[in-house]
Amino acid sequence: MSDKFWSNEAKKLDWFKEWDKVSSGEKPYVKWFVGGELNASYQCVDRHVKNGLGEKIALYWESESGESQSFTYNDLYIHVNKLASGLKNLGVKKGDVVVLYMPMIPQAIFSILAVARIGAIHNVVFSAFSYKSLKDRIIDTNAKFIITADFVLRRGKYTDLKFIVDLAAHETSIEKVILIKRTDKPVAIDNKKDILYEDLISKSEGYCEPEHMESSDPLFILYTSGTTGKPKGIVHSTGGYLTYVNSTFESAFGKVKDEIYWCTADIGWVTGHSYVVYAPLMSGTTMILHEGAPDYPDPSTWWKIIQKYKVSVFYTSPTAIRMLIKLGQEWLSGFDLSSLRVLGSVGEAINPDVWQWFFEHVGNKKCPIIDTWWQTETGGFMISPKREYGIEKLKPGSATFPLNIIDAQIVDEHGLPLPDGYKGYLVIKNCWPGLTLGIWGDNKRYEETYWSKFKDCYYAGDFAIKDKDGYFWILGRSDETLNIAGHRIGTAEIENAVIKNHMVAEAAVAAVPDKIKGQDFALFVVLKTQSENTDIIKTEIINTLKIEIGALAKPGKIYFVDSLPKTRSGKIIRRVLSNLLQKQDIGDLSTLENISAIENIKSVIR
Ligand code: PRX
Repeated sequence: MSDKFWSNEAKKLDWFKEWDKVSSGEKPYVKWFVGGELNASYQCVDRHVKNGLGEKIALYWESESGESQSFTYNDLYIHVNKLASGLKNLGVKKGDVVVLYMPMIPQAIFSILAVARIGAIHNVVFSAFSYKSLKDRIIDTNAKFIITADFVLRRGKYTDLKFIVDLAAHETSIEKVILIKRTDKPVAIDNKKDILYEDLISKSEGYCEPEHMESSDPLFILYTSGTTGKPKGIVHSTGGYLTYVNSTFESAFGKVKDEIYWCTADIGWVTGHSYVVYAPLMSGTTMILHEGAPDYPDPSTWWKIIQKYKVSVFYTSPTAIRMLIKLGQEWLSGFDLSSLRVLGSVGEAINPDVWQWFFEHVGNKKCPIIDTWWQTETGGFMISPKREYGIEKLKPGSATFPLNIIDAQIVDEHGLPLPDGYKGYLVIKNCWPGLTLGIWGDNKRYEETYWSKFKDCYYAGDFAIKDKDGYFWILGRSDETLNIAGHRIGTAEIENAVIKNHMVAEAAVAAVPDKIKGQDFALFVVLKTQSENTDIIKTEIINTLKIEIGALAKPGKIYFVDSLPKTRSGKIIRRVLSNLLQKQDIGDLSTLENISAIENIKSVIR
């Protein structure tokens, strides 16, 4: 049944060679479309050009700088081929990892597709991640090539990306930096290491044969946070992944080929990979790529773009919607959003009141909201409404049902199915083509993290409930990770960074709800020696987090305490800290070793 379904879905792609077997092997290493050969850039570009869609607009780019550009599929073909040839001439080979540290500019899409065209593996690093995060990822993949731009622009501020790349490249395996000069601002150039993007493509051939990739050859690595300090390099395949994102895109949003599609995610996250780049381009739609924030230069930015391009499918995050709600409904007035037919949401559960606002004020009560639950590891949507459901079948706040033949279940601590209405762990019982190939260079961690908690099924790391009508309600992470503004970040990652400060003996992260970001965190810090200068130390800690992780890891508050609540085996009980902050019952303290810590923490919070 499953093989038949996926075989039909895979047939929607153009394969150079058809597979011999739809699936083979055992969980968690099932291989899909064994023996089949294809190329991701061919799927996204060549086949549309061959099918007579060359003159169709593939991409409208809008930047907060005021610039806008459009590219047809023919343009995309030219750019991708030239860059792919240039990369090859530079010595990039099939299987090499190419790091992309880029703003939301068209060259980011050309780069992703060009890397895929020559069979190399892209590793996009979100452009707001710090030099240290970039460096750690380069070290993990041992990459020799990086593509970057001189500056990234966010809310009117230019950040020198090249400077960050130079810092990271200096201490790693990077041999060549391909630099996109998008501004006239000066940046340091090292003639031995740096190559200007324009120079590279001006000397390269106009056609580059797409590499014939085996279906399970890796297409990309994308890092995501886990429960330890070290992020996990999630690897995705070519054939299985592309089949899955293509299939889920169509199930959830319908046929968008003749529509204008806009997903607001950054290419640095999985949504940017699956549903900004691959799925829409495979479908041959026209999409919007936006560089900038929803509230800059003012909170009507997104509505202007929707009106200008007559966007029909608009896919965004609850955190952005909450921010726009807070900034006031008046920013929507006067804009014609009647082109919208479908809305989408991703990153965290969308609160029913936010759902209602989005539905009424953006969708004018006529657009279904497609609330998609999925993860970096799953490749594409797992639980989501289908476009054909219409509005009536939706329940605000629920991602509705598992898509197609995904077998999602709610189980207890022992892996036993729970009755409807009981909160439990969300697991996936069967296998699907979009599932990650594993963690880059660390199969053991992959098996332990996802496949050891419950026998023979994928442990998603989320709590959920299934109601009596079969609707799934996602209730947040069940592991030690936070979801801040829809971005996953590990508590251990933050704590490990904080204790790098020479004054800090111990640190613990406490999650707290946040009206805009969904979740925020406070830091509880124990100093090595008491200090009068806690304000200075606070600033230092904030800076350390910025350097070690990036702007995302900014604590809402920092508290200096005498000790942290711990179990007898020395494990910090973060739950107690979160409950104290929210003035909630702290529950059973019998496992607590140092009960005296509580009074001190309470008084510091006060
Ligand atoms: O906790 C879930 C939450 O985001 C996690 C996955 O994070 P990441 O791999 O960064 O991917 C984000 C984009 C797919 C999940 O384990 N999450 C994502 N989408 C939803 C969600 N929680 C509830 N509802 C959603 N629609």
